[in-house]
Amino acid sequence: MWEYTEKVKDFFLKPKNVGEIKDADAVGEVGSIVCGDALKLYLKVDKETGKIIDAKFQTFGCASAIASSSALTELIKGKTIDEAMKVSNQDIADFLGGLPDQKMHCSVMGREALEAAVADLRGEAPPEHEEGNLICKCFNVTEEKIRKVAMENHLTTVDEVTNYTKAGGGCGECAPNIEAILTDLWSLKPPEKPAKPKKLTNLHKIALIQEIIENEIRPGLQADNGDVELIDIDGSKVTVALRGMCTGCLMSDVTIRGIQEKLRELVSDDIAVEAYQ
Ligand code: FES
Repeated sequence: MWEYTEKVKDFFLKPKNVGEIKDADAVGEVGSIVCGDALKLYLKVDKETGKIIDAKFQTFGCASAIASSSALTELIKGKTIDEAMKVSNQDIADFLGGLPDQKMHCSVMGREALEAAVADLRGEAPPEHEEGNLICKCFNVTEEKIRKVAMENHLTTVDEVTNYTKAGGGCGECAPNIEAILTDLWSLKPPEKPAKPKKLTNLHKIALIQEIIENEIRPGLQADNGDVELIDIDGSKVTVALRGMCTGCLMSDVTIRGIQEKLRELVSDDIAVEAYQ
């Protein structure tokens, strides 16, 4: 039996914003009934302010999927599209007071539906979660999705990947491939994490940030034909410009957040990374 928070139960039993928006400006559809969960998100956007004035959903899924979808609509209503795109799957789970580990994939599905709806609004091709190198045939999960979700949520084990994507949760044949992806993804980390320095002078901090971007972050991005350039360091504010395939990528927010996490982990908790405009 799953341990659900009161808020999950509330959002499951009395979900908010269920239904269809007939004249929606954007629709994002993810998942598949065959795989057990599906979500369709409808957005109505004010053309003048760019704010989401209505969001509704239809879902086929469990209590967590319904609660997560409902939470997502509550989180994004009233936000601009750019603000809404900052809502992560962890934000959805946090809004609900947490989800059981094994149900985190429901929050991921919410975030994916949002990405799909925003792509639709912008007239772009839907994010390629369902295309590319298929790793898990049982749940139709690609390598790209595993990498993205693992990076965004700092997943390091196959079980964690299963919780967040369902990949590996069926016949288990894909587990070695998931393991290999994780090894590759995190092999950029130094084998032994350097301890975070206790107190840094400004000069030391700048040098450390430069070194980590150069040696820890850039090689990983370059491996995917992307890159990052350090533009400025002002106290704890680090400004970077994404280059190559990272430029204008739908996942650029995720990349920036990943860089910030890495710098917070290795330099200082107060680092804030922003993209150069
Ligand atoms: S192929 Fe991934 S669980 Fe079966």
